[in-house]
Amino acid sequence: MPKLIVVTREGEEREIMGEAGLSVMEVIRDAGIDEVLALCGGCCSCATCHVHVAPEFAAKLPKMSEDENDLLDSTSDRDEYSRLSCQIAFSDALDGLKVTVAAED
Ligand code: FES
Repeated sequence: MPKLIVVTREGEEREIMGEAGLSVMEVIRDAGIDEVLALCGGCCSCATCHVHVAPEFAAKLPKMSEDENDLLDSTSDRDEYSRLSCQIAFSDALDGLKVTVAAED
């Protein structure tokens, strides 16, 4: 199982073994990290699953859709490494991916 590292808003680093095929949001949620609200359940319409990905992984992630881009524009904490975690399929290729939960809007 690939490993996901999640940095919470308090700066706590959690290592989670995630199931490939789930979204990064689902892996975070299933680990009981409730800072990622994921209010829309992963259908790319709420932006409450916003995370910042480690720069070294940015190029390995699936391309951002226009919807994801527009939603991220509506957040206050967007930067060049912002992604919606429900739009990233977790996989062995992303083993060791580190994401930081974005500030609450
Ligand atoms: S869970 Fe709503 S946009 Fe990701």
